[in-house]
Amino acid sequence: MRKYVVGSYRCFLPAKGSIFFKTMTIGNNVIIKNANFSVERSDISMCRKLVNKERDDVFELLANSIAPSLHGIIHIKQAIVCLLLGEVETTLPNNSRIRGDINILLIGDPGVAKSQLLRCVLHVAPFVVCTTGRGSTGVGLTAAVTTNRSTGGRQLEAGAVVLADRGVVCIDEFDKMSDIDRVTIHEAMEQGKVSISKSGIHAKLNAQMLCFSRC
Ligand SMILES: Nc1ncnc2c1ncn2[C@@H]1O[C@H](COP(=O)(O)OP(=O)(O)OP(=O)(O)O)[C@@H](O)[C@H]1O
Ligand SMILES: [Mg+2]
Repeated sequence: MRKYVVGSYRCFLPAKGSIFFKTMTIGNNVIIKNANFSVERSDISMCRKLVNKERDDVFELLANSIAPSLHGIIHIKQAIVCLLLGEVETTLPNNSRIRGDINILLIGDPGVAKSQLLRCVLHVAPFVVCTTGRGSTGVGLTAAVTTNRSTGGRQLEAGAVVLADRGVVCIDEFDKMSDIDRVTIHEAMEQGKVSISKSGIHAKLNAQMLCFSRC
C-alpha cells in the first residue's frame, strides 16, 4: 500500500548517554494512494473515441506516440507499449501465480537512443523509479537491513524494486553492474517478491515491477 503522510518533522532530546537526537514525523493527514493509477473521465472519452473510429492500427498509434522525436525503432516502441500495458496476472486454484509483468532488456551499439527511450518511459509511465547500474548495488535495489540510531534496533529499508511495486524500474547502464548485484533482481522480476533473511529479520516484500534496463 502506498501512502502520503503530511505532518511535522520533530526532533526530541537524546536519551542519557546518547548523542543522537531522536526524530519523528507526527502525521496529521494520511492519504492512501491506490497502487493502480487513476483514470480520468477525459481518458475514458479518449479511449471511446479510438474504439468508435474502429481503427485497426491502435497498437501502432500508441507505439508512435512514445518518443515521437526518435525516428524508426518501431518494434522497440511496440515492446515498450507492451511493457507499459502488461499482461493479465493469473492466480491458479493451487495458489501459484502466472506473472503478467513484461521485462525488457535493450542491447545495442552506442548512440542508438537507448537512454533516450528510457527517459521517455520515465515521462509516460504513472510510477517510475530510475537508477543506474553503476550507482546501484544488489542491496540498494532490493532491501537493506540497517540499525536504527536512536533505538538501536534493526530495521528494513526498501530498495528501488520494492519502492517501484506495481510500477516500472528503469536501470540505465545495466552492464556496469557486477554479476552478483545483477542476479539479486532475478527473484523480483520472476516472482514479484523480494525475500530477505538477515540479522534475525525474515521478510517477503512485494516487488511487482516491470524492469526496463539497457546496456
Ligand atoms: N532513431 C533515432 N532518431 C532520432 N535520434 C536518435 C536516434 N537514434 C539516436 N538518436 C540520437 O542519438 C543521441 C544518442 O542517444 P543515446 O544517448 O540515447 O544513445 P545510447 O544508446 O544510450 O548510447 P550509449 O550506449 O553510448 O549510452 C541522442 O541525442 C538521440 O536523440
Ligand atoms: Mg546511453
